[in-house]
Amino acid sequence: MNQYVIRGGHPLFGEITVSGAKNAAVAIIPAALLVDGVVRIENVPEISDVTLFFSILEELGAKVRILNRHAVELDCRSIHSTRPSYELARRIRASYYLVGALLGRFGQATVAMPGGCNFGVRPIDLHVKGFRAMGAEVTEGGFIEAVARDGRLKGASIYMDQVSVGATMNVMMAAVLADGVTTIDNAAKEPHIVDLANFLNSMGADIKGAGTDTIKIRGVEKLTGGTYCIIPDQIEAGTYMAAVAATGGQLLIKNVIPKHMECISSKLQEMGVVVEEQDDALLVRRSAPLQRTNVKTMPYPGFPTDMQPQITVVLALAEGTSIVTEGVWDNRFKYVGELKRLGAQIQVDGRVAVVEGVSRLEGAPIQACDLRAGAALVIAGLAAQGTTTLGSVQYIERGYEDMVGKLRAVGADIELVDLPEPEKKEQSIG
Ligand code: EPZ
Repeated sequence: MNQYVIRGGHPLFGEITVSGAKNAAVAIIPAALLVDGVVRIENVPEISDVTLFFSILEELGAKVRILNRHAVELDCRSIHSTRPSYELARRIRASYYLVGALLGRFGQATVAMPGGCNFGVRPIDLHVKGFRAMGAEVTEGGFIEAVARDGRLKGASIYMDQVSVGATMNVMMAAVLADGVTTIDNAAKEPHIVDLANFLNSMGADIKGAGTDTIKIRGVEKLTGGTYCIIPDQIEAGTYMAAVAATGGQLLIKNVIPKHMECISSKLQEMGVVVEEQDDALLVRRSAPLQRTNVKTMPYPGFPTDMQPQITVVLALAEGTSIVTEGVWDNRFKYVGELKRLGAQIQVDGRVAVVEGVSRLEGAPIQACDLRAGAALVIAGLAAQGTTTLGSVQYIERGYEDMVGKLRAVGADIELVDLPEPEKKEQSIG
């Protein structure tokens, strides 16, 4: 319930090092449940979603040894439960990965049904379709309960009716220890899909084709331990690229895989931002006015939905009218109301936003409504003249490691302020 106080209008200069990918980490950590040995994971982002997963694993009986800020050792040989507590599991959407991992390893799982969220209905029918095809009986209600009919899942051919990151990863986890071969067609291709497959393969799994439309998983008898290093976070990197595009200045964004950034880099280049690729870094510079463009979000390698709010803020400051179309989620423009408080001119109709660029934004009190919306509002506050106070920043801390520290180090005037108790109460009611 803390706030960020941002005094905007300063260009950003310097270097930012990107942390490990959140959406890879929240899959790889539960995937350690599949491993009959000690798993050491490096480049783990220090974010609250990850901490929550450590608590869930510990509760199930795993040994979690924090080696340093970014490395952990997980030993899941002493798991005594396949039913994480409702209290912990309901707090994170990605707890659905516990179903695939526990079902794959122990033939059963009972996990609180992930709730809705701020950007539309989030069904898990494709996950369930995959588990059922592999011979699981699945019941859904307050909990999702899955049991492998013969104690062990069987390989199957599964066609994903829609490209789904979560269903692709969940079915992959369930399939690695199944009897026989599983094929996932129309699979998602995001960098974290490949990262999960690489992690599982490094533990002894046999997965081919991750990063293409078709993934083939040959079940093995067991996974043993090993060491794995998580990829850099594409969206965190993109967020800081958008920040420098909005404020002006020059940032060297380190620890990135430039290939993963192409969909974002090319949009910023269309807008007149200079993006220079180095081996594992991007130099991003904005010295000229921003130009309008259109953006449509799509599964990878398309423009990521998780960058839609951030790029919309940049377009809000560009010359001319831009169209942003959300191609993945039903309702991901909720933050636009807050952006308008800063002076942005945006009209939303369903999944389409028409953005009339303005020459400046003005600081105001605003609220984050989810992780990426929160990040976008930070960018808006950095670019705005005057002071912006941003509430509900706990959303941001779920997925961005030390955003305040990283931004301050490149010249941003942003601070985390602990709200006095009465204001905290008022905010949580709202
Ligand atoms: C992942 O969510 C990410 N979360 C999201 O990032 C991201 O927005 C999304 O992928 C798309 O890239 C994690 O990795 C933890 P999907 P996920 O299944 O897996 C429909 C962030 O900000 N669908 O790829 O839940 C669904 O409704 C978060 O970091 C079904 O119809 O997304 C959506 O329209 C937010 N049935 C589309 O597919 C299903 O069973 C894509 O969803 C599953 C999904």
